[in-house]
Amino acid sequence: MMVCEYKPGLEGIAAAQSSISNVDGQKGILEYRGIRIEELAEKSTFLETAYLLIWGQLPTSEELKEFEHEVRHHRRIKYRIRDMMKCFPESGHPMDALQASAAALGLFYSRRDLHNPIYIRDAVVRLLATIPTMVAAFQLMRKGNDPVRPRDDLDYSANFLYMLSEKEPDPLAARIFDVCLILHAEHTMNASTFSARVTASTLTDPYAVVASAVGTLGGPLHGGANEEVIQMLEEIGSIANVRPYLEDCLERKAKIMGFGHRVYKVKDPRATILQDLAQQLFAKFGSDKYYDIAVEMERVVEEKLGHKGIYPNVDFYSGLVYAKLGIPTDLFTPIFAIARVTGWLAHWKEQLAENRIFRPTQVYNGLHEIAYTAIEER
Ligand code: CMC
Repeated sequence: MMVCEYKPGLEGIAAAQSSISNVDGQKGILEYRGIRIEELAEKSTFLETAYLLIWGQLPTSEELKEFEHEVRHHRRIKYRIRDMMKCFPESGHPMDALQASAAALGLFYSRRDLHNPIYIRDAVVRLLATIPTMVAAFQLMRKGNDPVRPRDDLDYSANFLYMLSEKEPDPLAARIFDVCLILHAEHTMNASTFSARVTASTLTDPYAVVASAVGTLGGPLHGGANEEVIQMLEEIGSIANVRPYLEDCLERKAKIMGFGHRVYKVKDPRATILQDLAQQLFAKFGSDKYYDIAVEMERVVEEKLGHKGIYPNVDFYSGLVYAKLGIPTDLFTPIFAIARVTGWLAHWKEQLAENRIFRPTQVYNGLHEIAYTAIEER
């Protein structure tokens, strides 16, 4: 009999070979296609980074122009999808609305022409273009308003912020939001990417791949942590309360949201960039009392848990940035999804290039040869 080792959470088990991104968790390094995240955050745009991740190299200026043009002109969603979204309950979580809407796209584009590069390109463009429109549409519709039509004269991030508020955003706010999307675009073999690859390996359509990954991203141990960080900062309420709050968490063995990572054992490089972006926003638009609480939290957590390699992760400062941009807390995770659809699509393409369906095994620890008990005897 074959003996197989069981690793809870598949820790340390390689689920795929990938050339998309790389993390060095000891040194705090993240690279997309070999380029350091700090360099992309400074010099690139979200759509250029998406091109890099999905097609493997930086685009020429012609390639980028064409890609941006295609995405810009596919932003509108079908009225039937809007009508379907109008029936969603206002109390539903926007991640659930997004998962349902992404899956519904597959109803309209259900052809699975996975060997055809035109089909692949169309799906990439359509998903990158429409996911922000669907997030913004649900936000307005749940408040009883009609969705705002996308504006073709605005860039990707500026258009999303415009669709949320119907106001053209400040250029610094739009640039900072674009950098946030770059930072969240891809992150090796995390739970949602694994989910995307498993779904992709069955050769289903890319809309099902994205819908399944959105469902996985929503949990509080993954993308959902950024919402909980803001709730936690509100609950703490003052710098003086940071230490007693954290000591209480540690005593109860409760996880502190926005801290810790399976791979990083130092501060997540994305958290460092996000902290800097938060400071830029506060310098221009006024300070935020939660920022000071956050900085004190980082100090106390490092003192208490630094020896275990527990430092701020990407979710710790992202919520502060989004809150300052006026974005409601329960849209933080859908925004993570807007960015991460890039990584999921890159992994979808990579999975298809050398596909083998995922079919792991299990260690059975149940009973054998049990006789059936009649219902009246139980
Ligand atoms: N607060 C307090 N203790 C922690 C934390 C935390 N946030 N994270 C890990 N630890 C401790 C944990 O109690 C354990 O201690 P011990 O060895 O004494 O039992 C040790 O560190 C290892 O923790 P683990 O839970 O086995 O680590 P993991 O790799 O399974 O979990 C994690 C990683 C991200 C799920 C976890 O750190 C966590 O739950 N963090 C809070 C939620 C969060 O911020 N999630 C966002 C993750 S980054 C973005 C993303 O993936 O979407």
